[in-house]
Amino acid sequence: MNRTIVVLSAGKGTRMKSPRAKVLHPIMGRPMLAHLFDSLGALGASKVFAVVGHQKEKVADIAEGCGAECVVQEPQLGTGHALMCCREALQALGETEVLLVSGDVPLLPVDEVESFWKRFHKGGAAMGMVTVELESPAGYGRIIRDGEGRLARVVEEKDAGPEQKRIREVNSGIYFFRPAAVLPLLDSLGTDNAQGEYYLPDLFAALYDQGAPAATFPASDPGKWLGINTQADLASANETLRAEIVSRLMAGGVTILGPGTVWVEPTVSIDPGCVLHPFTRICGETRLGAGTEIRSFSTLRDSVVGPGTLIKENCVLEGTRTGASCIIGPFCHTREGTVLEERVHLGNFVETKKARLGPGVKANHLTYLGDAEVGEGSNIGAGTITCNYDGVRKHPTVLGRNVFVGSDTQFVAPVKVGDGAYIGAGTTVTKEVPPESLAISRAPQKNLEGWAARKKRKK
Ligand code: UD1
Ligand code: CA
Repeated sequence: MNRTIVVLSAGKGTRMKSPRAKVLHPIMGRPMLAHLFDSLGALGASKVFAVVGHQKEKVADIAEGCGAECVVQEPQLGTGHALMCCREALQALGETEVLLVSGDVPLLPVDEVESFWKRFHKGGAAMGMVTVELESPAGYGRIIRDGEGRLARVVEEKDAGPEQKRIREVNSGIYFFRPAAVLPLLDSLGTDNAQGEYYLPDLFAALYDQGAPAATFPASDPGKWLGINTQADLASANETLRAEIVSRLMAGGVTILGPGTVWVEPTVSIDPGCVLHPFTRICGETRLGAGTEIRSFSTLRDSVVGPGTLIKENCVLEGTRTGASCIIGPFCHTREGTVLEERVHLGNFVETKKARLGPGVKANHLTYLGDAEVGEGSNIGAGTITCNYDGVRKHPTVLGRNVFVGSDTQFVAPVKVGDGAYIGAGTTVTKEVPPESLAISRAPQKNLEGWAARKKRKK
């Protein structure tokens, strides 16, 4: 049977109390809507629609990026109205079965969806609902069953009387339906309810009244089926996914010290034999080669780290590539466009940006290297600064191989230094330095003997 998926993501998510549309909130660094689309891929639908409205450009960006076609719902008059907006598009598809899901269920257990969908297909009902049993059902639509246990209707929290509020079986907001049987019933929906909205679940009452009650599929793990509605739900979804990722990494041979404190986003890949210390964060498109060790309070984002590299405490690596066996930190900040070849050492308080450091280069203390190229084996002394910005433009500093840079040197870019040259400590380099030479720009030192004693006598 042909399959179609409709994702409702036009609502604001008022209970998040956030200026951002609910489905844009990230879970482990990725918008919750993108997580949902990732898992929906396994269902093999030939068409996926996303209903967008609130902050529709940003939401549509994600949905379209995941291959969905967007349907705009404006204004947003409720979940039933969201489906009305898809009516024409669904009618145009011919015979198909539809899964309708809210955009706020990032951890949807897709294996279970698959088995429910197969049961729905065989059962032949016009519509099916995934239901969930809750200890505290407050906030959800309650399932009203008739004397024979058939789904008669759904009563929303705001419309429910005290008796109904005690019902613990709730609507997950996830449905299957056959468009030919269900879309005509949209005409029967009204807004005569506590929220003045078109309620999609009222379709179940319409079916029941026609003598064709819907199927129900009780879900096993309520936590994964119920959407994110509050900041607390968002935090617990983050924690669920974080813990899953950490367990999977450990099963794959990564040593994780303090697994409750380590944050690794799902886009990261880590080879076996790596060690992550407590409170490390590995984000975005980062890859760690075998045997890499990341110590506490370091953050890596969109970086590739070569095998056997050690990143000590309190480093931030962004858009950086390192070769094998580098030693970085503590307290280093390597920014976008940093390339460290093998065996580079960066020590305390070193910042790099758009810098390529050749094999074995050392910059161990208090240094800024921006728009720089440093050849193999060069040694950068403490307090070296590339003055790469003249207030208007950025300029390059290019050092050859085996250059020895004395402490407290400034390179006023653009400037070049040849292979094997020496720069005396305290030099401001403004002109090209030829290979194998010494550049020094210090004023000669004067010693005024007896000066201190004369000063004291004057007082
Ligand atoms: C809905 C169900 C409720 C169920 C609960 C499960 C209705 C009326 N109630 O309530 O029975 O227990 O889900 O989570 O459907 N949306 C739109 N356009 C709109 C309104 C909502 O696209 O005009 C989208 C939202 O972005 C969201 C989804 O539909 O992704 C559900 O909307 P929400 O307001 O969260 O419904 P609930 O009040 O949670
Ligand atoms: Ca909801």
